[in-house]
Formats: sequence, C-alpha cells, structure tokens
Amino acid sequence: MTRKILVTSALPYANGSIHLGHLVEYIQTDIWVRFLKMQGHQVHYVCADDTHGTPIMLRAEKEGITPEALIEKVHAEHSQDFADFLVEFDNYYSTNSEENRQLASQIYLALRDNGKIVSKTIEQFYDPAKQMFLPDRFIKGECPKCHAKDQYGDSCEACGATYNPTELINPYSAVSGAAPVRKQTEHFFFKLSDCADFLRDWTRKGSLQNEAANKMHEWLGDAGENKLSDWDISRDAPYFGFEIPDAPGKYFYVWLDAPIGYMASFKNLCTRLGLDFDAYWGQHSEAELYHFIGKDILYFHALFWPAMLQYAGYRTPSQVFAHGFLTVNGEKMSKSRGTFVNARSYLEHVKNPEYLRYYYAAKLNGSMEDIDLNLDDFVARVNSDLVGKYINIASRTAGFIHKRFDGKLLGMSQHPVVNSLRQTAQDIANAYEQRDFSRALREIMRLADVANAFVAEAEPWVVAKQEGDVAARKLHEDCSAALEMFRILTLYLKPALPKLTAQIEQFLNIPAMQWADIANSMPDGHPIQEYQHLITRIDAKQIEAMIEANKQNLAPEAAAPAPAAAQKNPSTEADYLSIDDFSKVDLRIAKIVSAEHVEGAEKLLKLSLDIGEATPRQVFAGIKSAYDPATLVGRLTVMVANLAPRKMKFGMSEGMVLAASDEQGGPFILSPDAGAQPGMRVK
Ligand code: MSP
Ligand code: ZN
Repeated sequence: MTRKILVTSALPYANGSIHLGHLVEYIQTDIWVRFLKMQGHQVHYVCADDTHGTPIMLRAEKEGITPEALIEKVHAEHSQDFADFLVEFDNYYSTNSEENRQLASQIYLALRDNGKIVSKTIEQFYDPAKQMFLPDRFIKGECPKCHAKDQYGDSCEACGATYNPTELINPYSAVSGAAPVRKQTEHFFFKLSDCADFLRDWTRKGSLQNEAANKMHEWLGDAGENKLSDWDISRDAPYFGFEIPDAPGKYFYVWLDAPIGYMASFKNLCTRLGLDFDAYWGQHSEAELYHFIGKDILYFHALFWPAMLQYAGYRTPSQVFAHGFLTVNGEKMSKSRGTFVNARSYLEHVKNPEYLRYYYAAKLNGSMEDIDLNLDDFVARVNSDLVGKYINIASRTAGFIHKRFDGKLLGMSQHPVVNSLRQTAQDIANAYEQRDFSRALREIMRLADVANAFVAEAEPWVVAKQEGDVAARKLHEDCSAALEMFRILTLYLKPALPKLTAQIEQFLNIPAMQWADIANSMPDGHPIQEYQHLITRIDAKQIEAMIEANKQNLAPEAAAPAPAAAQKNPSTEADYLSIDDFSKVDLRIAKIVSAEHVEGAEKLLKLSLDIGEATPRQVFAGIKSAYDPATLVGRLTVMVANLAPRKMKFGMSEGMVLAASDEQGGPFILSPDAGAQPGMRVK
C-alpha cells in the first residue's frame, strides 16, 4: 500500500548559519525521507527559514539592511548548505510568505471564534531610548540570586537561576543600554489552559516518544490539575512579523507563525505540483504527518502546536520525533575550543558531506539522547567502515571484470553467499523505519564483513595468475558475486549515502535503485563501467585544520553596542582575557631537583627544576621566608616555562614558580595531584 506522508524538519532561524548541530536534525530527517521514498511511498519533505522576531529585526538593523534583504541572503546561504549536505527538501520556503500570512491569520481567527483567544493588559519592560518593548533576552542586569553582573532577563549563566526580568537588579536594555521602564500593554493570549484534557489524551496516544510523553505529562499534570498557563502570542510594534487582523500595531509572536510555516511551505508545494492541501491538513486527512525536532523545542510542538491545530479545525500531527543535542568530543559545542563548526567550514576542510551523514547515521537511534561527534572515532570509523570494508569489496574485484571478461558479469541470482545478504533486508528496513539508523548500519557492516570474508577466501588476485578455463571461470564467478554483494550493500546504504550511490549506480550501469530491487540481481552478461576510484580516507590533519579554523576568541561579541550600564562594570570585554591569550602562558609541572639558599639574598631560594628537558631550569624564587630548602627537594610544583629569562644579581632565572599569598600569609607553592609528571602542560 502506498502511504501519503508529509515530513518536516524544524525551521532554522534566519539569523545564523547552519552548523553541525543543526545538521543532526536535517540529516536524520533526510535519511528517513529517502528511505521511505525508496520504499515507493508518496513522501513530501518540506522546510523553510524561520524569519520573524526581534533578533532578526535587530540584526538587519545592525547590518544596515532591511529584514527582507537579510532573510533573502540567509535563505540563499541555508539552501546551499542543505544542498551540499545532500538534504533534499521538496520545498524550502520562508515563513515570511503570503501563504503563511494567510494561514496564520485564518488560524488565529478560527481560534478566536472558538473562544480560545483572550486579551489581557500586562506590564512589560520598555526601552525608552529605542522606544520598544524588550523581550526577556534583551534585558540584562545583576542576577537576583548570586549577584553576577550582565545576566539575561530570564536566567543566570553564572548560577543557573531562572527568574522574571523584573527581578533583575539594575536592569538595562541590551539594545540601547538605557534603563528600561515598566509599561502597560495589551497582549493576546491563546488559552492553552482550556486544552489540557485534549493534550493529556493527544500526548498519550503514541504521538510522542515515551520519554517525551512523560515530560509533557509533568507539564500537564493529572486531570483536574491546572498547570498550564495561557500563551502570549502577540508582540507590539516595532516587530518584524505579521500584523494581527483587527489589531493594528500588534504582531503575531514568531512562535505562532513558525509552525504554521510547515503548512505554508507545503501549500506552496501544492500549488507547484497540483496537490490537494486538504488531503494532508484537513480534519479528516488520511495522510501521515511527521515533525522532526530537537528536544529544546518540544514544548512548542507537543503542546501549543497540536492544540492550535485541533481548535482551528485541522488535523494534528501523526507523530513528533524529538532528537538530542550534538556534543563534540563529549562536550557542548564550543567556540573557544573550535568545535562550533559551521556547515560551510566542514565542507571546506573535510569536503565529503557523506562522511558526516554516515557518522551521524551510525550514532542515531531514534531516541532523545544527545549524540556525540567524537572526532577521532569519526576519522577511524569512516576510514574503516566505508573505505576499508565497503568500498574495498569493489576495488579488489572490479578490475578483473574489465581486464579479463570484457566488462561483463555473470548472473549471480543463485549464489548462496550473495543470497545470505538478502536475508536481513526486512530487519534493516524496520530499523530505518524506526529511525534506529545505528542498528541498520551495524547490520549492514556485518554483511560487509561477510562479503569481505568471501573475497579474502576467494583470493581473486591469486586465481587471476592461474591458467586454464576452470580458474578463469572461478575468477569470473567470484568477482561477479562480490560485485552483486556490493550492489546490495549499496542499496542498503543509499538513504545515508545518496551521492556515492548515484556514482555506483553509474559504475554498475543500473537504474536508480528502489528498495524492492533487493530481490533482483544483475543478469548474465550485464556490462559494467570501468571501476574508478570512489572515495578516499580522511586524514586526521583535515579535522585538526577544521577545528583550528573555528577557534574563536572568548570575548563577548564586539558588534553588540556596549550597554551604558555595563561600561562601568569591571567584567566587560576589555577586562576579559581571551583563551588564546591565556594559552600563551606555558605552564608546566616541574620537579624540584635541588633547592638551596643563596648567599646574600634575603628572600630568594635557588631552585633547579626538571620539566622534562635535557637540563633542569634554574629559577630564583622568593619563597625563602616560608620554606626550608631541604623539604622542597623531590616535590612537584607548577612553573611558567616561557617567561623571558632574566639576569639577576645571583645568576640567570629561567622561569617562575607560582605561589599564593596575601596579607594573611604565604607564599604557598602549588602541588599537582598524584599522577602529574614533570613537563606536563597545565592548561
Ligand atoms: N526556529 C526554531 C524552530 C521553529 S520550528 C517551527 C528553532 N530554530 S534553530 O535554528 O534554533 O534550530 C533548528 C533545529 O535545529 C531545532 O530543531 C533545534 O533543536 C536543532 N538544533 C540546533 N542546535 C542543535 C544542536 N546543537 N544539536 C542538535 N540539534 C540542534 O529552534
Ligand atoms: Zn546567578
């Protein structure tokens, strides 16, 4: 049965570049969509840029262009990034479209007619200099809990506390630096509190992963409990977005029209392809609708969105699939460590997008767990699985077909080893369908091992040197079998590696493979192309260069206007030390080989320090008042190894030992924990 399926990925914000974290989602969705398309279903995959809201408005202003010009520029950039990572949308649109304006207005009016919209007067921070209301993120001030300076209006990065912007001490506007004033304004709210019973049911009927359903249940509470607050869906001018019908000067909050952007992108596709929009979005739709999202936006997709659809008279999503966040080498992506890598930068250094697609696929299992890009493992796995196991099957056998057999294969439909590769086709398909790509790839690599073992046993390179018809026949059969297995493995890998597959389809001289082609085999006498080198190993140096190129200064973005209130604060930009500056200090573990009094010196001891170099360093340290030289010998401590040598009255000092002191006492020299060795770098 052919299924009608509509799939979306979250709409990336139009104010930043696509990075490796985003790609977890788009690659995951793309693999799933390609798999379903290979199965012959009617699948549409749509997405768009999420273009509205204050950050985009302010960024355009900073760049001196209109928001429209900014979003157009970013749309081109994002489209190119996705295309180059082989993420193949059927439509990549924009939330700033006429379709979206109409749908957002229509949905809002339907909700209003349904009694789901109320208006309330609220008090909000207002920037009197910039004459605009300030979103929480644009108000900064001192944390009410730990008193850290320059914290955001919603939460403190120093102590993790969350609070209301009105609780900040000495708040200031991050836009102008002015002290904000509180001002009353009328806002529209979606009565989410009215939807709790519907949502309790919807979130429990298989629409969400268990983990997500449990989380939603915490937010929803049990029947009778009223835990949901109404959702503020309007913003005051100036705002870049859609004006609300019948409410001049009031705009839809970006998160209202963003998911409607899924519908708008699809509507636009319908116009192009002549599809029936209502067959997908109407209340009685029999099509399937799936949203892939990151776990950070679950609340919007599992509560607001289904409630909006339900009470505006549309169908609700079949399922929402949330995934975890990307970590690199086990840590959050970081600009200072160089692991916050843009899509473009990856392509410049590593070049092949399918390596990343393969690696992500090998890690994704359909759960909400974070996924780790371990860079050493990335290199090792791509080289061993793709080059060492998979491509190897063709590269060791294809040459003989041309050299000896006129480029023609023998039919291998009855070959037992070849057939053994077909046995788990359904398991692999199930794993793909369940988004457990890691399970699918494990099985595929197991089959690649089977094929490789077959080639190793057959030893075509030995048989090729033997004379006579029997040897020739065996060589022809074994190489044909290996290439038939290579075809099957390629078919299995096709959702993850579409470009490589296309090259291989050309090499094997076969039409684009569908999943059902698993049952077929290349016939007797089938001519193939001459084998061309398909992929190369990654060199760890490419990864190093990529990470190096992405290392950024830790200082806060200089482009943001320095708020007046913050200028007086001791912890602003100029006072920070960048990580690069800090790493100029070469700190080493040093072993005190000898320590002695210096004749004529009141404060100094002469130390000789082993930092793993050929000869120990001589250092004069002002620690005589606190240490008996005899007790220092053999101890480990920390020294600055790249301080310019200094000529002192008693000789050269070739470094500095670190010690703590204040009025109360000292100096106290430092000691490392057990295990540290002389010469180790401290960083
Ligand atoms: N614009 C909203 C989504 C609106 S959907 C109607 C948004 N945009 S985003 O650009 O911040 O993120 C787009 C998607 O990428 C989200 O699903 C988000 O979870 C995902 N990711 C962004 N950074 C990510 C990682 N570091 N790791 C994994 N996914 C990440 O949210
Ligand atoms: Zn705090």
